[in-house]
Amino acid sequence: MRAELFKPIRLGTMQVPNRFVRSATNECLTDKGDYVTDRLADLYEALARGGVGLIITGYAYVRPDGKSSTSQAAIYDDKFVPAYKKIIERLRPYPTRIVLQIAHGGRQSIPSACNGSPTAPSPVPYPVTKLTPREMTEGDIKEIIHCFAQAARRSREAGFHGVQLHSAHGYLLSQFVSPFTNKRKDTWGGGVENRARILLEVLKACRKEVGKEFPILIKLNSDDCIGDGLKIEDAVKIASMLGKAGIDAVEVSGGIGDSFPSACRSDVDSPGKEAYFATNAQKIKKAISVPVICVGGIRSREVMESIISTKKADMVSMSRPFIREPDLVERLKKGLAEKASCISCNQCWHPKGIRCAQLAKKQGLGDRD
Ligand SMILES: Cc1cc2nc3c(=O)[nH]c(=O)nc-3n(C[C@H](O)[C@H](O)[C@H](O)COP(=O)(O)O)c2cc1C
Repeated sequence: MRAELFKPIRLGTMQVPNRFVRSATNECLTDKGDYVTDRLADLYEALARGGVGLIITGYAYVRPDGKSSTSQAAIYDDKFVPAYKKIIERLRPYPTRIVLQIAHGGRQSIPSACNGSPTAPSPVPYPVTKLTPREMTEGDIKEIIHCFAQAARRSREAGFHGVQLHSAHGYLLSQFVSPFTNKRKDTWGGGVENRARILLEVLKACRKEVGKEFPILIKLNSDDCIGDGLKIEDAVKIASMLGKAGIDAVEVSGGIGDSFPSACRSDVDSPGKEAYFATNAQKIKKAISVPVICVGGIRSREVMESIISTKKADMVSMSRPFIREPDLVERLKKGLAEKASCISCNQCWHPKGIRCAQLAKKQGLGDRD
């Protein structure tokens, strides 16, 4: 059964050596201009050496006002491409594939990035920043679609093996899809077809830039984990539309900023609490023919194997476990580990670079180190 996890898989034209994905993780390893750094290349190389099949980079913002956290990487201009090329060079000796996640924060953008006036599908206040975004005009929507397409082109030029559109966790694309944040009365809001329109338009615009062969993946919310938010029934319909429109893989997640920490639950302490979006992943998998990637609280080999063997998803994706153990895949393969030792404490984010807070404590490092 272990063998299933180590079987190669194709995502469109991209051959991935096994079923392990490092899900997008904002690494906070950028320099002052938000260019990616050698320290980020070190982190990716450790993951590649440790056997991860597919690395999805942290959130790279497609326009300056779409930055949603400090120390995030940028992809809004051609000037960022050479630094990414250096990263790709470092990974060349490994079979690991690497995909750039492209995103815009919308109402979840940080105030400093958008001069305190974020734009979003509808003026729904965001409790975290206490700001109410301005409703995007038709022109704004066309412009942001263009920015995603240019970011996809830059990803290909930098040498990435593909790109992932971020339509999860309450960022701009996910805001359009969600009835909680999209109250529009025009063709971009209302029924699920209208709310999903932007995803299809972004996909079409990206395809025009990168061609048929370049893999385009999406991270999709399957549930916003909030009252009037997106639910799995709509997510299945959206995934199905994307499948028909030529998406190459769907990573299934959930939760938005308002329902934090629903995307990164902290109570993952037994197999029964693991893989909290796996049931949704399975519903999506039944509706589409492209590979489905399951993310959220996956920790033990037993759960990973059952996700694949019961056809809930084709790949297993993890974020927090790989911050602590970049060699987790190799150790699972060799039988040296049965599960990740991550305790899901959610203290891994750090402005000077993500790290396992538990390990840092053991090494005597304080919060500011
Ligand atoms: C420090 C940190 C940064 C994250 N950054 C991103 C990101 O940039 N883009 C994204 O889609 N998800 C991001 N996530 C969410 C993860 O990709 C993943 O969906 C979530 O942590 C659940 O998986 P896990 O239980 O394996 O950690 C981040 C999570 C953590 C802990």
